Amino acid sequence: MRQPPMIETCGLAKSFGRAPAVSGLDLQIPAGSTFCLLGPNGAGKTTVVRMLSTLVRPDAGWARVAGHDVAADGAAVRREIGLSGQYASVDEFLTGRANLVMIGELCRLRRPAARRRAAELLAHFELEPAADRPVRTYSGGMRRRLDLAASLITRPRVLFLDEPTTGLDPRSRLVMWDVIRRLVLDGTTLLLTTQYLEEADQLADVVCVMDSGRVTAQGTPADLKASVGGTRLLLSLPPGAALGRAAAILAPHAAGPVRLTGGPGRLEVPVVPRPGIVTDVVKDLDAAGIPVDDISMRRPSLDDVFHALTGAGEAAA
Ligand SMILES: Nc1ncnc2c1ncn2[C@@H]1O[C@H](COP(=O)(O)OP(=O)(O)O)[C@@H](O)[C@H]1O
Ligand SMILES: [Mg+2]
Repeated sequence: MRQPPMIETCGLAKSFGRAPAVSGLDLQIPAGSTFCLLGPNGAGKTTVVRMLSTLVRPDAGWARVAGHDVAADGAAVRREIGLSGQYASVDEFLTGRANLVMIGELCRLRRPAARRRAAELLAHFELEPAADRPVRTYSGGMRRRLDLAASLITRPRVLFLDEPTTGLDPRSRLVMWDVIRRLVLDGTTLLLTTQYLEEADQLADVVCVMDSGRVTAQGTPADLKASVGGTRLLLSLPPGAALGRAAAILAPHAAGPVRLTGGPGRLEVPVVPRPGIVTDVVKDLDAAGIPVDDISMRRPSLDDVFHALTGAGEAAA
């Protein structure tokens, strides 16, 4: 029998004043998967997270989290979820450990159990060395990890992470990705929002691209990349090179039409990748007296999807 989705929405919508923040959102997120809402600032990502975590009431449509309706059964939803946002919710003047113990007690753990859970999470998030220092001495990355730890005190089955790495330096971002990957190994269902294509690519099973409150594309990172075409060879020929003749020489190597791309002397050749193809192409052009300034193989990336969707034209080489 098919398991019902852990998170499901149908026609979910929310407006602030006259402007729709989210319009008619339909999502199905299977248990244990990582689902990413990818979109620029103002796309509506936080509004989706706030509706699903019962902080904002939808205007239309419905949503169920772990089988509970967010509007009719908010308390049951809140018992199942953890939420960690862009803005840390911890007390600056308490130590990391004291924060976690306090939150554990607020979540009705007895003090010894709260202390045990705090110790576990501090170890899990590589915060042990700083555990007994006040949070105001923590770096941005450490605060985010503590905030994430706080959202996990009660071992929620569903976790919402709203832009968990926005504003972090590249190294802290890598640590955070690692932490997130380990989390989902435990079977947690994760809904993550991000503005970073690479983050979606690294972490998500399914990516939903949002813009102006609407879904513009959805699929696995591989599906989305495939939708913008396969591998291409990008060539730069020197000024004055015979592009027409070059295109004719390239045609037998190509898996589709050879195209001129932005910039003078640039050609794009769809290919089926195989070892030696780059050498063969350069040899054939060389034999015809056409020099090559630069040649590179390009596999499609989520960047290409983004460019295709936002109509930004040719993806830059
Ligand atoms: N509390 C609010 N009051 C008024 N407008 C809001 C509020 N929250 C969000 N919005 C508007 O809704 C749109 C979507 O915002 P948001 O969900 O925060 O997007 P994102 O998280 O993708 O940046 C934006 O235009 C934003 O200005
Ligand atoms: Mg947001």
